[in-house]
Amino acid sequence: MTTSGITAEVPRQRGEGAEGPVLEVRDLHVEFKTREGIVKAVNGVNYSVSSGETLAVLGESGSGKSVTAQAIMGILDSPPGRVSKGEILFHGQDILQLPESERRKLRGPKMAMIFQDALSALNPVFSVGNQLGEMFRVHQGMSKKDAKAKSIELMERVKIPAARSRVNDYPHQFSGGMRQRIMIAMALALEPDLIIADEPTTALDVTVQAQVMDLLADLQREYNMGLILITHDLGVVADVADKIAVMYAGRIVEQAPIHELYKRPAHPYTRGLLDSIPRLDQKGQELYAIKGLPPNLLKTPSGCAFNPRCPKAQDICRTEVPALLPVTERDGTELVGRGSACHFREEQLHG
Ligand SMILES: Nc1ncnc2c1ncn2[C@@H]1O[C@H](COP(=O)(O)OP(=O)(O)OP(=O)(O)O)[C@@H](O)[C@H]1O
Ligand code: SF4
Ligand SMILES: [Mg+2]
Repeated sequence: MTTSGITAEVPRQRGEGAEGPVLEVRDLHVEFKTREGIVKAVNGVNYSVSSGETLAVLGESGSGKSVTAQAIMGILDSPPGRVSKGEILFHGQDILQLPESERRKLRGPKMAMIFQDALSALNPVFSVGNQLGEMFRVHQGMSKKDAKAKSIELMERVKIPAARSRVNDYPHQFSGGMRQRIMIAMALALEPDLIIADEPTTALDVTVQAQVMDLLADLQREYNMGLILITHDLGVVADVADKIAVMYAGRIVEQAPIHELYKRPAHPYTRGLLDSIPRLDQKGQELYAIKGLPPNLLKTPSGCAFNPRCPKAQDICRTEVPALLPVTERDGTELVGRGSACHFREEQLHG
């Protein structure tokens, strides 16, 4: 049985300049020591994001999306969690080798995170202006007055109405959508090179979701940041992401430029996810659902972790772990930026 999580070099995307990506995650492994045993939450993840680029990371609950993000930010719940292998290159430097004091200096000015639940991420006893202003006071030594002016400017940037009169309000006085805008403002404050947004709109209703997502996309372009957008909803990222990495049981099972993935998935799991998106032209029809449940990470199935749920599984799938390999056209041409971890990736692509 092959257990290697090592993945092949997938051809580079256009736009990845000579200076290289802002972030490159290489063969990342993260595990948690629990009473029941070692939970292998991330098993050899590779992905990268460049300035001005948006990478969507998609996968069902428990696939390791957030744990990968926490490892990048250096906020892993540790112990019990630890990075057991791999590299996280930020502007080419492996930040896993830095002492905690250096990593702390990156959070805010260089990389920032937007969480799903703004209410618990913001401090309830300080006004939003105070919390926004603190970024400038602590990191840039600004005076209270200047920091307040900057906070108002930022609130206007994220389109909070009447920002000047609301700057002294507390988080609970804002609606869910407005609080999420405040979180975006905090992440943007110091103009980091990388933002990771972990399910930033999941808690919002559908119309507000779209507005917040559009705002995030606009600001990302304006600031030319690298953005990693974590979601379990393929519909949410279609219009904003450049490329996508699909995760399953702690691995990337498919990666592709976003529109190519929609048109021609090269992995049965992605196919299943696409088939389970509600479509307006199929109103009333029963929605497809991938059968079964995500695997128990204490004991992932041998071979391809998706095999117990996969409609295309064959004998080899139960013994050999498929590596993430380039995907080719019928004439053998490699598709730029595409990779799939399926023994039958070409059949899936052309089928
Ligand atoms: N603090 C922890 N202790 C033990 N195991 C953990 C811990 N945090 C995460 N895990 C394990 O890591 C796995 C991956 O978790 P992660 O939060 O990355 O999933 P996710 O893909 O972000 O899912 P969701 O869509 O639900 O947010 C979980 O299934 C869990 O088994
Ligand atoms: S390797 Fe086999 S089980 Fe895994 S996705 Fe491909 S066909 Fe399905
Ligand atoms: Mg998560």
